[in-house]
Amino acid sequence: MTPSLRELDLRIVAVANQKGGVGKTVTVATLASGLARRGQRVLLVDGDPQGNLSQLFGAPEGRPELGGLLELLSEDGAAPLSSAKLDSFIVKRVKLRLDLLPVHRRRLRTELGDERIIRAEKGFALCLERLAARYDWILLDTSPSNGALERLLVSACRAVVIPMEFQVFSVSGLESILEEVAECSRRAGRAIRPHALVFTKAENGLARVETYRKLFASFKIPIFEVCKSEYVPRALERGRTLWEAAPSGYAARDYGRILDKSFLG
Ligand SMILES: Nc1ncnc2c1ncn2[C@@H]1O[C@H](COP(=O)(O)OP(=O)(O)OP(=O)(O)O)[C@@H](O)[C@H]1O
Ligand SMILES: [Mg+2]
Repeated sequence: MTPSLRELDLRIVAVANQKGGVGKTVTVATLASGLARRGQRVLLVDGDPQGNLSQLFGAPEGRPELGGLLELLSEDGAAPLSSAKLDSFIVKRVKLRLDLLPVHRRRLRTELGDERIIRAEKGFALCLERLAARYDWILLDTSPSNGALERLLVSACRAVVIPMEFQVFSVSGLESILEEVAECSRRAGRAIRPHALVFTKAENGLARVETYRKLFASFKIPIFEVCKSEYVPRALERGRTLWEAAPSGYAARDYGRILDKSFLG
C-alpha cells in the first residue's frame, strides 16, 4: 500500500495539470472542503487568475481591498512575510475550518510580470511554510497553463495531485507535467511527490477505459477515479460543495475514497 500524505507528512499539495477543464478546481475544492469536514484545518490557495475557486467560495473578483495572491506576491518576494501580514491576505472561514487565499485579478500575470513572479518564488515558498504551522493542510489550485506562476506554485509544494481525463492526449500531457514537477523539484532543492492521478468524469462500461487504466498504471502513481456525475456541475452552479449538494452521490463517494486512502490513510 502506498503511504498517505499524512503518513509522509506532506501537507502542502498542488492540484495541477496544464490542460484545461480536467477538473482541477472541482478536485481541489472537494478535497479541501472534505478535509475540513473531517476536522482538519485547511487553507485553500487560488493560484489561477481565472479565480474560479475564489468565486466558488464567495470571494468576488475585483475587490483588491480584500487582499489576495497578487497582493502577497507584490510584497518583497525575497523574504517571508510576518504572520500578521500573511493574515491580511487571507479570507477567514469561507467554510468551517476552511480559509482561502483568493485571487482577484485576472490580469495577475501581466500586472506582475514573469520576472517579479520568478523573484517571488523563494519568498512564496517560505510564506507557505510559515502558514503550514497554522493549518493541517494547504491545497493549491492552479491554472491550465505552464509558466512562471505555475512554477512558483508547484515549487512551494511537497506533493502534486494530477486530475485528468481518460483520453489519448492525457498520456503526453502527463509526461510533460511530470517533467515540470521534476524541474520544480530541482528549483526548490527538495523532492516534490507526484502523489495521485485522479481520473475525473470517469465513465464505466466504456471498453477503452480498461486500455487507459493499463496504460496509466505504467507510470506507477496511484490512480483514482471519480465518476462523471450531473451533481458536480449542478453543485458548482449553486456555489455549493459536493458534500453539501450530493453527499451520498457517487462522485462524493469517490472523492471520499481519495481522502481516506491518499490523504488521511
Ligand atoms: N466528476 C465530474 N462529473 C461531471 N462533470 C465534472 C466532473 N468533474 C468536473 N466536471 C465538470 O468539468 C468542468 C471543468 O471542471 P473544472 O473547472 O474543475 O476544471 P479545471 O481543470 O479547473 O478547469 P480550468 O483548467 O479552466 O481551470 C466543469 O464544468 C465541471 O462541472
Ligand atoms: Mg480551474
